[in-house]
Amino acid sequence: MFVLIWVTLVFNADTVASVGGRRQCSGFPFGFCITLPEGEITAEAGLCVVIPCSFTTSSSFTTQKLVWYKCEPTEGECSDLDMIFHTNKNNIKIQSGFRGRVSQLEPDVSQRNCSIIINDLKESDSGSYQFRVNGLLYGTADGFTYSPRATVSIKALSQKPKVVIPPLTEGQQTTLTCTAPGLCSGSDPQITWTWRGAGENGSHITGNITDFKTESLTAVTQNHSSTLTFNASAEHHGTSVTCKVSFTGNAATEETVTLNVTWFSEILKNSRCEVQSELLTCVCITEGFPLPTIKWPLLKNYTEYSVITTVTNHTVNSTIMLTVKDRSNTVVECVSSNENGEAKMNLNIITSEKQEDHHGLSVVPFLTIAVLSLIMNVTFIICFVFLW
Ligand SMILES: *[C@@H]1O[C@H](CO)[C@@H](O)[C@H](O)[C@H]1NC(C)=O
Ligand SMILES: *[C@@H]1O[C@H](CO)[C@@H](O)[C@H](O)[C@H]1NC(C)=O
Ligand SMILES: *[C@@H]1O[C@H](CO)[C@@H](O)[C@H](O)[C@H]1NC(C)=O
Ligand SMILES: *[C@@H]1O[C@H](CO)[C@@H](O)[C@H](O)[C@H]1NC(C)=O
Ligand SMILES: *[C@@H]1O[C@H](CO)[C@@H](O)[C@H](O)[C@H]1NC(C)=O
Ligand SMILES: *[C@@H]1O[C@H](CO)[C@@H](O)[C@H](O)[C@H]1NC(C)=O
Ligand SMILES: *[C@@H]1O[C@H](CO)[C@@H](O)[C@H](O)[C@H]1NC(C)=O
Ligand SMILES: *[C@@H]1O[C@H](CO)[C@@H](O)[C@H](O)[C@H]1NC(C)=O
Ligand SMILES: *[C@@H]1O[C@H](CO)[C@@H](O)[C@H](O)[C@H]1NC(C)=O
Repeated sequence: MFVLIWVTLVFNADTVASVGGRRQCSGFPFGFCITLPEGEITAEAGLCVVIPCSFTTSSSFTTQKLVWYKCEPTEGECSDLDMIFHTNKNNIKIQSGFRGRVSQLEPDVSQRNCSIIINDLKESDSGSYQFRVNGLLYGTADGFTYSPRATVSIKALSQKPKVVIPPLTEGQQTTLTCTAPGLCSGSDPQITWTWRGAGENGSHITGNITDFKTESLTAVTQNHSSTLTFNASAEHHGTSVTCKVSFTGNAATEETVTLNVTWFSEILKNSRCEVQSELLTCVCITEGFPLPTIKWPLLKNYTEYSVITTVTNHTVNSTIMLTVKDRSNTVVECVSSNENGEAKMNLNIITSEKQEDHHGLSVVPFLTIAVLSLIMNVTFIICFVFLW
């Protein structure tokens, strides 16, 4: 007890800022130093926080147990009622709210490493944390509470899950991966997938969901992820997929991504060519994502032509117009391609002239006959009049 009173009075006698934090030593008894981070340690609800810490004791002291407390900063020294961690996990004084949530990073006490990780954080875990060693001083049970404290501030969860989408191609099985934020060793978060179609209908994803836990990162950190495996199809293009990660204590976070599926369709059947007099008009229609490019090999042989391309959603309509003198051996090919494929089609040429001719023949003779008969009538009348 004598020692403890002295601690608060004479700590800070010797302080050294170092890379890992600020090292502070007590003036008496000598040799009790602790290194804690300078300033506030911040973390987010649902995740975990590490309080990095190392300590030394006087050479006559043998460390046996490490103890952490959390109490109001106004209390000069936390008491056993404030215990949140004890090397002996079964110590009944550990507050129930912290039981099972706090672990030592380095189990070997002789390493003088007092770092702890607190899992399944709640905003109420914000506060001031104090460290104590229990052991033997000259063979007698004793302890020392270090005066400097670690200040922890827990904010609402703002980190988002990380969703990885490989390039998606129609007809190919694909796997989306969602990794929960945080590298903690607390309760397993719950990871769920939901999706919403681009159109009203259709894009329901039928697939397999698998949860992973990677424990190997370090002894006390884990990485949680979930995968969604499905066969990509054109209908999935534009679908919004949401990965939601729920931690204990109502902390949840989600990320939404929009799927881009590379797909490609054959050239549509209503593509065709039409000749009217000498004007050749060809229309080639195709669909896909990314939008296919339409090429007309025929145009290489012409210098004067017009091309009109119109795009509606994922449909491309390319219309060419040119004058052809001799179309007897004209083959009009349309080539459509995007990164997922290429399609070629020789377009049928519908000759509108026959129809035109037909109209012409039906109209012209009629007119001719009408005119001829009129002339004949007039001639007849004139002749008649003259003769008369
Ligand atoms: C404490 O131990 C942990 C785990 O072995 C290590 O990552 C950390 O760097 C150590 N801290 C100090 C201050 O030695
Ligand atoms: C959605 O698809 C179902 C059949 O799968 C069909 O009966 C329904 O009419 C479609 N709804 C819309 C809005 O397209
Ligand atoms: C988490 O685990 C996944 C595989 O399970 C790995 O690809 C990823 O890099 C890990 N993330 C971190 C931050 O270690
Ligand atoms: C999902 O899993 C089942 C059974 O393991 C398997 O038959 C099916 O092919 C899987 N589906 C996908 C899209 O991987
Ligand atoms: C996914 O596509 C592959 C290859 O086309 C096929 O073998 C497999 O059965 C499909 N799986 C499902 C669940 O449709
Ligand atoms: C999908 O494509 C659009 C436009 O092509 C692009 O802006 C967007 O970033 C793409 N999304 C993904 C997840 O690749
Ligand atoms: C272009 O003209 C050449 C020579 O007349 C002919 O062999 C070739 O087939 C034509 N190309 C196209 C695409 O019509
Ligand atoms: C194009 O897409 C929009 C919205 O996705 C839809 O409302 C519209 O009907 C589509 N147009 C055609 C021609 O399919
Ligand atoms: C294609 O575009 C042309 C002109 O841009 C238009 O006259 C034609 O109706 C369109 N065809 C279709 C099927 O949309």
